[in-house]
Amino acid sequence: MSAVTADLIIQNGTIVSADASTVGSIAIKDGRVLAVGAAEAMPQARETVDVTGLHVLPGAIDVHVHFRDPGYPAKEDWASGTAAAAFGGVTTVFDMPNTIPPTGTAAILAAKHDIAASKACVDFGLYGLLGDDTIAHVPALIEGGVIGFKLYMGNTFGKIPSPSTGAMLEAFEVVAPTGKRISLHAETNSIMERRQERLAAAGRQDPLAHIASRPAVVAVEAVSRAAILAEWTGARIHILHISSAEELRPLREGKARGVDITGETCPHYLLLSTDDYHDLAGIIRVNPPVREARNREPLWAALTDGTIDLIATDHAPHTPEEKTRNDIWAVDCGFPGVETQMPLMLTEVNRGRMSICDYVRRSSYNPAKIWGLYPRKGGILPGSDADLAIVDLAREHTLYDKELQSRSKISPWNGRRIKGLPLHTLVRGRFVMKDRKLVDGMRGFGRSVHEIQNMPAPQPRNTDLTMQAIVGEAADRRVEHIA
Ligand code: NCD
Ligand code: ZN
Repeated sequence: MSAVTADLIIQNGTIVSADASTVGSIAIKDGRVLAVGAAEAMPQARETVDVTGLHVLPGAIDVHVHFRDPGYPAKEDWASGTAAAAFGGVTTVFDMPNTIPPTGTAAILAAKHDIAASKACVDFGLYGLLGDDTIAHVPALIEGGVIGFKLYMGNTFGKIPSPSTGAMLEAFEVVAPTGKRISLHAETNSIMERRQERLAAAGRQDPLAHIASRPAVVAVEAVSRAAILAEWTGARIHILHISSAEELRPLREGKARGVDITGETCPHYLLLSTDDYHDLAGIIRVNPPVREARNREPLWAALTDGTIDLIATDHAPHTPEEKTRNDIWAVDCGFPGVETQMPLMLTEVNRGRMSICDYVRRSSYNPAKIWGLYPRKGGILPGSDADLAIVDLAREHTLYDKELQSRSKISPWNGRRIKGLPLHTLVRGRFVMKDRKLVDGMRGFGRSVHEIQNMPAPQPRNTDLTMQAIVGEAADRRVEHIA
């Protein structure tokens, strides 16, 4: 009998889960965690890396990135985007469908899978686009391996048309029995379009005109409506980029009614405010907008009490030229974030805003649970993928745009002091970032995670009243009548 030999041991770190942190070692074999425990209890290993004094976190799962590939190589691609993820301690990303062409058919999805698989150094999921004319493609998109669906209730970068409420209901009816989660850009298009037109006609071009066109009611109305449709159909939904205190009410009420609704916020809504428009101007133009400072405390409180389930980034890279135009309406919306989320949030951990365990719960454990990836992802347990962010909580550092891995070297965080930095990132047991350097030869190592499935059974409702059911019935009646 030969003793099992591990490939790698990560020795003497503080291993963090959503509930506890303990000093110990992690043995890794074939990309998975083999054992977690005291250094003396570890098996033989080919390689041992001592991480005394560092914290070992399950890699962050960023469920909201725009890697722009195919379509916008000047902004980002799968190589630069996943390099940025690796530097940010992010081991899995979910990529949005507003690429060119939008990810709305099985063929387009397959092509995107090929591109991502050839360039990515971290694992990934791909969203399928759920819109008026893609409802019929839902089964094929699921068959082709989407992690979930994205529905744009409001217009944003990429100008994907927002479906009518009627189309949205039908889309929810079709997705509900599949159990896939629908992530929503919850801003009501008709409200903000009308306001933007009036503001532009009145000659407003200043940065604050952006927020004036999209007050919180735009989001509140959308979240409420989405929650009602999810409740009726039993569809699972996720509210992306929660930006206002007011949205928390429909989110809380939906949860209290038993709607399968989850929510995310992003570092910029927790850390920035309208006070920053003066200096940052178009750089912080993002949808939904960074809002008044009074929203921040309620967002933090919601993150603490679990109303907001997770932290994502809405990593939305654009070029410096696209971000610095004088007319605010001509500035592309969004900025990179996948790389800076962890240092920014670890700084808040250091400030006592949340515990390191709470951070892991919001950055990794909850996303894994919500999309059915747990316990393969989202924790450091025997059998889990060895996706690790090894961080120095004591490291002080200044973020500079020019040092970003993202192709988009323009963000609101330029010059910001942080405390807490990922030093190494491992994906399935392999270093992809080591000592703040990208590891060579890892392009193409990233894999789609859609096959990992651990979701509770779907609970569709009102199935006798769906479009499918009524049209089917009417068709049957017509046939009977003719007969
Ligand atoms: C995103 C983008 O650029 O793709 N922009 C943004 O302002 N958030 C789109 C989006 O997530 O709405
Ligand atoms: Zn969005």
